[in-house]
Amino acid sequence: MSQPVTIAEGIYWVGAIDWNIRYFHGPAFSTHRGTTYNAYYIVDEKTALVDTVYGPFKEELIAKLKQIKDPVKIDYLVINHTESDHAGAFPAIMDLCPSAHVLCTQRGYESLKDHYPYLDFQYTIVKTGTSISLGKRTLTFIEAPMLHWPDSMFTYIPEEALLLPNDAFGQHFASSVRFDDQVDVGIVMDEAAKYYANILMPFSNLITKKLEEIQKMNLTIKTIAPSHGIIWRQDPNRIIEAYARWADGKGTAKAVIAYDTMWLSTEKMAYALLDGLVAGGCEVKLFKLSVSDRNDIIKEILDARAVLVGSPTINNDILPVVSPLLDDLVGLRPKNKIGLAFGAYGWGGGAQKILEERLKAAKIELFAEPGPTVKWVPKKEDLQRCYELGREMAARIKD
Ligand code: FEO
Repeated sequence: MSQPVTIAEGIYWVGAIDWNIRYFHGPAFSTHRGTTYNAYYIVDEKTALVDTVYGPFKEELIAKLKQIKDPVKIDYLVINHTESDHAGAFPAIMDLCPSAHVLCTQRGYESLKDHYPYLDFQYTIVKTGTSISLGKRTLTFIEAPMLHWPDSMFTYIPEEALLLPNDAFGQHFASSVRFDDQVDVGIVMDEAAKYYANILMPFSNLITKKLEEIQKMNLTIKTIAPSHGIIWRQDPNRIIEAYARWADGKGTAKAVIAYDTMWLSTEKMAYALLDGLVAGGCEVKLFKLSVSDRNDIIKEILDARAVLVGSPTINNDILPVVSPLLDDLVGLRPKNKIGLAFGAYGWGGGAQKILEERLKAAKIELFAEPGPTVKWVPKKEDLQRCYELGREMAARIKD
């Protein structure tokens, strides 16, 4: 079992490491590198536990607490977010320490009662600016509704310039060390981007506003300790700046091509489009959907300006393997993207219209409508047209 880790004097990481989880949110999110459920124990004149862990890890949490200070004496239990990966051990902690006073938002309280209707507990509803003194340290709260649930909030400890923002700034990344200066930060940033793209992307406008609000509050932030993955202590601005960049959705001169193929006709079109985009000076990532991870593709779409999706027609429809990516894009609503649909058909067609309708439903502006379609197999002139379209798209996204 992992051991408690000191974050600052009297402040401890008491979470759990889930090395083997490979899907999160049911099957919705691939977690190739596992995850952690981070909880923080603050021992001052009064004690506070900030968040818990996923239920199956409750014994790990309790064992860590017992190593530091008898958790029967916890004064405050802060619930920044009620999703089960952080509040799953809430009943176990309340069982251990029924006198702990719960601090949460109004929506957090309602969600706790919905999740655990059989539990009674003392509580105080906190709002942005509410402060609770623990002695030498203070807990100050910042509501963060829809980042990413209505109940979400951040806890800030001004004396340590320590922000505990729950899911925000987190990454699904299991490791035996806890801090950004102990790992390959490039890999952690990649996981942070994947987390943002697949979970937080629909809330980008709110994230921009929240970052502006925090800036206006003039908070000094030396350490960001999220509820998943690595703690940012060496360079917390790295992740704050990345969030600002991802939230504005401007992206870079990059295109993502995602497709699948039956008899290679659509694949040939994909490669011709790729060649045109590359010739036009763009970075391109190409994915054949049947051999690619959908969540990894969405991570690449996060900072791309163009999304090209290809499918041949089958039964007047698109290939089933293409649908999940489009479904995700409709839900995630990526900002400021242009798109293109392409593919081959045999007699009746049908895939092209479906692809284009789905891209429009995802608020992706079509660069050409209809995009390139070919009957049976692409001829030389069809592939040349794809190449030229790639170049034209490159010129547009390099503006
Ligand atoms: Fe929204 Fe990590 O839970």
